Amino acid sequence: MNKGIFVLGASGFIGRELLRNAQAARLDVTALVRSPENARLLERTGVRVLVGNVDQPAGWAEAASRCGTWIDLIQPPIPRRLGARALRRIVRERLRVTAAIAGALSAIPPERRPLLLSISGMSDLAPDEQGRLSHRSPLRARPMGFAHIGLRVRALLARTAIDVAFVHLGTVYGPGKSFTSEIFPKLARGRLPTVGRGANRLALIHVRDAARALLHLATLERARVAGRQWIVADGAGTSQRDFLATAARLLGGPVPKSAPTWLVGLIAGRAMADELSKDAPADPAALLETGFAFQHPTPASGLQETMEALARPVAAVSPPAGSVGSTVTP
Ligand SMILES: NC(=O)c1ccc[n+]([C@@H]2O[C@H](COP(=O)([O-])OP(=O)(O)OC[C@H]3O[C@@H](n4cnc5c(N)ncnc54)[C@H](OP(=O)(O)O)[C@@H]3O)[C@@H](O)[C@H]2O)c1
Repeated sequence: MNKGIFVLGASGFIGRELLRNAQAARLDVTALVRSPENARLLERTGVRVLVGNVDQPAGWAEAASRCGTWIDLIQPPIPRRLGARALRRIVRERLRVTAAIAGALSAIPPERRPLLLSISGMSDLAPDEQGRLSHRSPLRARPMGFAHIGLRVRALLARTAIDVAFVHLGTVYGPGKSFTSEIFPKLARGRLPTVGRGANRLALIHVRDAARALLHLATLERARVAGRQWIVADGAGTSQRDFLATAARLLGGPVPKSAPTWLVGLIAGRAMADELSKDAPADPAALLETGFAFQHPTPASGLQETMEALARPVAAVSPPAGSVGSTVTP
């Protein structure tokens, strides 16, 4: 089976970090993006970049079929207020995209069909027999928060004949996305409260560890990975309050106040309030048993590095020496 990796949603927060790490590890990666601008940016990482529409696999399926593992990181933009209507729209969009990917995989003969890493969050899972969210966890019987998305995607994939591994990421923090644009600036000004008392444990993962873990799973022997669910979260059990207070301290801001969960629900939407206030004690034991090691086993070091990265002047992705990146437009 081909060792190549095909990445969908490569221009996003995790995707870009994944490409940087893939390039550093000299992995054979092909990325699909939908805009030539993103293609030009990403090709500097040295990976092969295809420009195309996920709904039109004719433009990319041939090249993708030569990769042994596909990683689906596609996610429609999450609005600031995630109300019920916005959530329904995101579910519809994720299902449409997942169906397109599943269709492209199903068209490849089974003996050379790639493995799909389907990426979701922790909300899909209910506690296991030890009260932790782990590879043994059953799926939630009643969806809450982002599980409305993940459970529907998973049900769709379960109805296909393709090989899938379900990867559940904790909240991915690092220099980028809403952490840079909203969370850190508000924490620095004392404008971001904890949701409720903040004693709940968050499932957290630094963006580099998220990217490294996905590449690690993509390069393991397929039989070890397929058909299982994987937890990609540091397992430190950091409380929401400690996480936000540590970030605020590093930013020179005050200790965050707290706001009632119902109020955050009104402002940010119920799904977001649920997501932030629920207890999520993650257990990444299965991932660690495969030999993976976190570079940031707790947010203390991960946040420190994040702040250092944000303090550096913004640098474009610089081309590695001897880069062979190429853009292919169908
Ligand atoms: N970030 C987290 O904290 C977190 C936590 C748990 C799970 N996850 C999961 O991890 C995955 C990646 O998350 P992320 O934070 O990297 O997301 P992100 O930064 O929002 O990136 C989303 C990616 O999807 C692409 N995309 C969106 N709609 C598309 C469409 N219709 N067709 C093709 N591409 C489309 C975007 O492309 P453009 O650049 O062209 O818009 C972008 O590359 C998602 O499945 C998410 O659910 C993330």
